[in-house]
Amino acid sequence: MSILITNIKELLQVREANISKVSGTEMKHLPTIKNAYVLIKNDTIIDYGSMNDSKGITAESIIDASRKIVLPTWCDSHTHIVYAGNREQEFVDRINGLSYEDIASRGGGILNSAEKLQNTNEDDLYNQSIKRVKEVMQLGTGAIEIKSGYGLTVKAELKMLRVIKRIRQDFPIKVKATFLGAHALPGVFKDNKEEYINLIINEMLPKIANEQLAQYIDVFCEKGYFSLNDTDKILSAGASYGLVPKIHVNQFNAFGGVALGVKHNALTVDHLEELNSDDIIALKSSKTMPVALPSCSYFLSIPYTPARQIIDAGLPLALATDYNPGSTPSGNMNFVVSTACIKMKMTPAEAINAATINGAYAMGISNEYGSISKGKKANLIITKEVPSYNYLPYAFGNNHIEKIIINGECI
Ligand code: NIG
Ligand code: FE
Repeated sequence: MSILITNIKELLQVREANISKVSGTEMKHLPTIKNAYVLIKNDTIIDYGSMNDSKGITAESIIDASRKIVLPTWCDSHTHIVYAGNREQEFVDRINGLSYEDIASRGGGILNSAEKLQNTNEDDLYNQSIKRVKEVMQLGTGAIEIKSGYGLTVKAELKMLRVIKRIRQDFPIKVKATFLGAHALPGVFKDNKEEYINLIINEMLPKIANEQLAQYIDVFCEKGYFSLNDTDKILSAGASYGLVPKIHVNQFNAFGGVALGVKHNALTVDHLEELNSDDIIALKSSKTMPVALPSCSYFLSIPYTPARQIIDAGLPLALATDYNPGSTPSGNMNFVVSTACIKMKMTPAEAINAATINGAYAMGISNEYGSISKGKKANLIITKEVPSYNYLPYAFGNNHIEKIIINGECI
């Protein structure tokens, strides 16, 4: 099956396929072609260019994109989209004055979600989760990372990871899986953290590796959760099974987690709402991608990741949703891009780069996703009629998407 998209007002993020990420001042530049076409064959972009050079190009199906913009689908490199139930009561408790930390210290928070997930069977968990997968696909997400971490027992972590695997098999969007056994300390281990860490290392990891259920390993490195030492130990164990770190650091406190991630060659360090100059220095000597999650900051009313400081230091930055029941019950990358512009002072070009090519890098898939390049997957967003790409983040909260193509098929 071939599709030719014609008369595109502006085609965004047109790059050579070998560009894996953009950093610093490069992020201000979003390469585009005005009055463009894209040619898709099966699941692949095979050609693109100016309409002036499109004579003689035909396809089985033609989509006229006059007055519309075409861009790659969003690459959401950080989610916890597989979960059971919700935490709307904690939302109300926070409005009434409790903090996220207060709720967690009373046994709510992640442990609340873990209890719900442990009591939900695999099919039910799958059915609850795929509703969200379908929803984010309609919002333009074409590749997604999904974490475990609401199981916190051997059985329930495996259940989560098997659900992620089923999503990968059943849906056309690209799915990467991350093992986050070290998300919180289960109540039964509250006086014996060592024992839980041993369970992660000696029981969960071998089983996960054996079933090839994860590509990445994550730890919630934070005061009250897992220390630098704990994180070091868990990441080393993960590495022995070939799992690359993508870690939660600096959400509430900065105490060296970024440098530790860099030491372990983390693919990404995520959150970074708190960031100091040592963190920037550590990132500068690395290939690690910093990842900001602005809808988490919005929902919890915590600081936004200092994007300007990061980008102006010459570093790259990716944007992701953090879709989860506790800190970000939303998987809307369009909102993330807008919020990055409005609250983090990223330009629309920087935010779109961060949510496409850099998001793809943050999942290790920028050879196939994240830009309009010959040979990459045909994952495209066709917008409604809009005046320019600046309008997408500017007119926030509105749906500007008309059509989504994933793997060469309109969904
Ligand atoms: O990324 N911070 C750790 N994990 C999630 C939230 C988990 C939860 O509250 O359920 C996050 O914000
Ligand atoms: Fe998260």
